[in-house]
Amino acid sequence: MGKWWKKAFGYQIYIRSFKDSNNDGIGDIRGIIEKLDYLSYLGINLIWICPFFKSPMDDNGYDVSDFYNVSSDYGTMNDIQELIVKAHQKKIKIIIDLILNQTSDEHLWFQESRKSKDNPYRDYYIWAPPRYINGQRVEPTNWASFFGGSCWEYDQQTNEYYMKIFSRKMPDLNWKNPRVRDEIVKMTDYWLSMGIDGFRLDAVAHLGKSDLMDSTYQTQERYKPEWEKYSNLPIVHDYLQELNQKVFSKYDIVTIGEVGGRALVEDALRYVSPKRRELNMVFNFDHNWCNNGWNRKKGEKLKIDVQAMKDIFEKWQTGLQGKGWNAIYWLNHDQPRVASHYGDRDYFHESAKMLAVCMYFMWGTPFIYNGEEIGMTNPEFKSIVDFKDVSIHNQYRINVIENKQDPTDFINYVSYSTRDNARTIMQWSNDEYAGFSNDKPWNMVNDNYRIINVKDEIVDKDSILNFYRKIVDIRLNSKYNNVIAYGKYQQLKKEHQQLYFYLRQYRTKKILVICNLTNENVKIDELEYKIINIIISNYERKEIPQEFAPYEAIVLEVE
Ligand code: GLC
Ligand code: CA
Repeated sequence: MGKWWKKAFGYQIYIRSFKDSNNDGIGDIRGIIEKLDYLSYLGINLIWICPFFKSPMDDNGYDVSDFYNVSSDYGTMNDIQELIVKAHQKKIKIIIDLILNQTSDEHLWFQESRKSKDNPYRDYYIWAPPRYINGQRVEPTNWASFFGGSCWEYDQQTNEYYMKIFSRKMPDLNWKNPRVRDEIVKMTDYWLSMGIDGFRLDAVAHLGKSDLMDSTYQTQERYKPEWEKYSNLPIVHDYLQELNQKVFSKYDIVTIGEVGGRALVEDALRYVSPKRRELNMVFNFDHNWCNNGWNRKKGEKLKIDVQAMKDIFEKWQTGLQGKGWNAIYWLNHDQPRVASHYGDRDYFHESAKMLAVCMYFMWGTPFIYNGEEIGMTNPEFKSIVDFKDVSIHNQYRINVIENKQDPTDFINYVSYSTRDNARTIMQWSNDEYAGFSNDKPWNMVNDNYRIINVKDEIVDKDSILNFYRKIVDIRLNSKYNNVIAYGKYQQLKKEHQQLYFYLRQYRTKKILVICNLTNENVKIDELEYKIINIIISNYERKEIPQEFAPYEAIVLEVE
């Protein structure tokens, strides 16, 4: 208890789409500075800013070519320093992405590494010679890349392959090499000494790779998605303990690892268990796909898989509580918009507000993703040019161009899950370009910015934005702040097919959260608790209803 980040409310900023201060169509650091007042108004006290380092932007900055410099798209080192000072004046802490798994192929280390087998930087990356099968050159292993195709790229210069589990412009660093680890220690320390308050550790589960042996998966694909070959291996924990000991432990910071994929609670505990001295918390992805999306019929609406979602919350809430800390969130820059994914067009406000209640009264440090607080939705993708994500373009090449999948089918299929959903321009007002810039933005503006935007929602007291503000305020500043931060989580009526019930309890204070995850009216039985107070209700109830309306959510103080 006591650590500042246990009482933080986070907000993730996708810098490229957030606010453009100099009208070149690209969001930037000064844009964030301009919006600090807005962030204070929202009430959050921690921001996570997506990468702003120098980069050729193959993967919007997750491909870093210089860790010690800011991309000219985003500003200067002075801008960063000013942002840190100004945010701190407003009691907002800042964490940034720590990108450890790879660099850009334009990073000096890689430029050197690829020159020759005896270059001093050769072992900064993972190189392996080709195999020859029936005289054909073949990759060192049959492992797939997360972004489509093989996880290896052939480099003619030395007739070897380098590993790249993301894009070909993102070669994986060789963490076995102590010199690489020293470089990372130095870089991490550099950013902490600038005054930032911690990190979100990008793709941290993948730092260790298993021996180079083919996957034996019997799947159709040529490259096998056996992510276990490079996810959550024991060696990752040695690397993190070293980083913790050499850097993290010297500062009062927060560290959050991205350990999505197929991470289990047991895996997560190895990262966050305090006695292991690795990370403070992790982001997992389990709750991101609890609907009928993957196998829905044409025209069928998306629908929450209530039981699956409740089971996943139960698993993570009870699995980590008392043993480590947790981070909670609906989406980040890699996932669809929650209002489209789990919300309901026909009950737009009700469902968006219910989702906020459902998530943000749980245990763990919460993170809102920019635009979520106003109910931003997925855009409509009409053709491949609407997509910006390198992984979609890779998949398009493989599925449509090489394997002749119908392009419309492809677009319909990927629209559901694409990372581009979260990356459209932040909707500030109903002015041209949604008030993001005076010039044409780098990415799509969702047409609905005329109705869904910050400016209009500030004045509408029933807006999603004002509802989020209320939740942030209750969580951080009300007499319920301790029970929300530290209270024991307990799910009630686990088998209920529509409602999600959970109790939070800290000392003698108890709060009960009830959310209707469906569009149905649901009668509720007499509660076995005495109601002391209605803390928040998305239907503005003054007393508890006998029948819950579609997507109704209520938080009660009980005894
Ligand atoms: C993480 C990031 C994602 C990025 C990848 C490679 O998953 O969230 O956006 O593409 O790592 O760095
Ligand atoms: Ca700009």
